[in-house]
Formats: sequence, C-alpha cells, structure tokens
Amino acid sequence: MSNSGSLICVGTGLNLAGQISVLSKSYIEHADVVFALVPDGFAQTWLERLNKDVRSLQGYYAQPGEIKNRRDSYEQMVEAVLSEVRANKRVVCALYGHPGVFACVGHIAIKRARQLGYRAKMEPGISAEACLWADLGIDPGYSGHQSFEASQFMFYGHQPDPTTHLLLWQIGIAGEHTLTEFVTNSERLQVLVELLNQWYPLDHQVVLYEAPNLPIDKPRIESIELQQLPEAQLSSITTLLVPPVQRLQVNHQVLAKLGITEADLG
Ligand SMILES: C[S@@+](CC[C@H](N)C(=O)[O-])C[C@H]1O[C@@H](n2cnc3c(N)ncnc32)[C@H](O)[C@@H]1O
Repeated sequence: MSNSGSLICVGTGLNLAGQISVLSKSYIEHADVVFALVPDGFAQTWLERLNKDVRSLQGYYAQPGEIKNRRDSYEQMVEAVLSEVRANKRVVCALYGHPGVFACVGHIAIKRARQLGYRAKMEPGISAEACLWADLGIDPGYSGHQSFEASQFMFYGHQPDPTTHLLLWQIGIAGEHTLTEFVTNSERLQVLVELLNQWYPLDHQVVLYEAPNLPIDKPRIESIELQQLPEAQLSSITTLLVPPVQRLQVNHQVLAKLGITEADLG
C-alpha cells in the first residue's frame, strides 16, 4: 500500500486573510483538497480563491431542527478528512484561529492519520486568545493567566488563581452538558457566577471579548460586573476575561531559600 497521502492542519487566524502564516497559506494553495471550518462566507470564499477544491465542514454540525451530538459531528469531520488522506491526496484542514487550541478535530485527525502511517502535522495559527491580549493591551506574562473551557470549569474542580487573568472559552454554551445545544441560559450562567463568587466579588469587572473576523470590524470589548453575566449577550464567539482581583502573593519560603527578600524583587 502506498502511503503518499498527507495531512496538514493549519490555522487561518480570526481576521479574514490577514492572520494566516505564509507557510499555512502556501500549504492551502498546493493541497489536492482543503477542508475548512472558518468563521463566515467571506473566509470560505477567500479560501476558494486559493484552492479549487475547498470543502466546508460546517455541514457536519446539526442543521436547523436536527438534534446531533457535537462528538458525532467531530467524528464525521475527521472521517471526511481521513478518507481523502487514505486516497493518497495532499490534504489540508484549515481551521479558524489556531487549529489545535480549544479545537479537537485537527488533533484527532492528525493522530489517526499517523496511526495509519501517513505524514501529518499541525501549523499554528493566531488564536482568539492571541487577539485578546493584543486588543486589550494585556501582557499575560505580567501576572500569569489561566484558560479553561467554561463548562469544564463548571463541571470539574478547577481552582482559579485570583492573582492571574482567567479566560473562560465557550462562555456562550457554559454549563451545556448534552453537546447538542449551541446556547446557554441565564440559570446556568447564574451557577457560574456563584462559583466564581468564591474568588471574585459580584461587582468585579469582567470583559466580554469578541475579536473581529473582518478587517473593517472592531473588537467587542464590553466590561460588565460579574453579577451581570446571566443577562449578558453572549454568542458562539464570545470569550470571557476575568482580570485578577488580588495582587501577586510573595512566596517568602522560596525567597528565603534563594537568600533574597521581597525588597529585592523591585
Ligand atoms: C471551539 S473554540 C475555537 C478556538 C479557536 N481554535 C482559536 O484558536 O481561537 C471556540 C471558542 O473560541 C473563542 N472564540 C472564537 N472566535 C472568537 C472571536 N472572534 N473572539 C473571541 N473569542 C473567540 C470563543 O471562546 C469560542 O467559544
């Protein structure tokens, strides 16, 4: 059996045409077939100008009136991609943002392709988080940061560090456990507010962030109080930023072992 097929998962960034790497764009141009999950029709059309065989993966999501588990959608997307790899094509999977950040299809497809003996790799892209730091003027290295998928944060015992920035992805489906709905509701968001209230006051200012998908658009940067979250307008592209509420805590034990004091930290 010839294993000349290959798979490269690339990230297209969030903003149309301008946030993709030179290398990723070149892979798209030279692919036999390109599978795509991009934010809108403009991005899809742009891809179709780069390659004559671009196939959207959007159709594998539940269609209006259909109830479908997202895991089934992802499985079908992976199978669609792999069927062309098995046909020994040079396949590119173009996923918006970074193809492997809070996105499972690329990771699963690459793993399976490799198990089958095909060459497969991922090229990084500009994620929503990368845009957020730029648009909000925050260096996450200043106090550190944590990122969680919002529902996972609610379902499991994650401990936020209130001295760092906390990002909650997929806030628009927070608390949705069936993997069949694409929205959350105010009751679930109230549960999240009460959970976060263990570390943050109810009037703590949090930020609803949406990076623009078109160069002519501006980012959505909306500050609200934590307690207003259940009534906030959220969409599938909203990310929640919870800024730190406490100053960094000095670790005196470690400083003592290093022979330095708090004053030495400047
Ligand atoms: C399935 S994840 C995909 C993330 C994507 N792979 C990336 O690198 O940004 C979807 C989540 O990413 C975040 N996201 C996607 N598009 C966004 C945008 N335009 N602005 C802010 N966050 C966005 C939201 O938290 C959204 O619920």
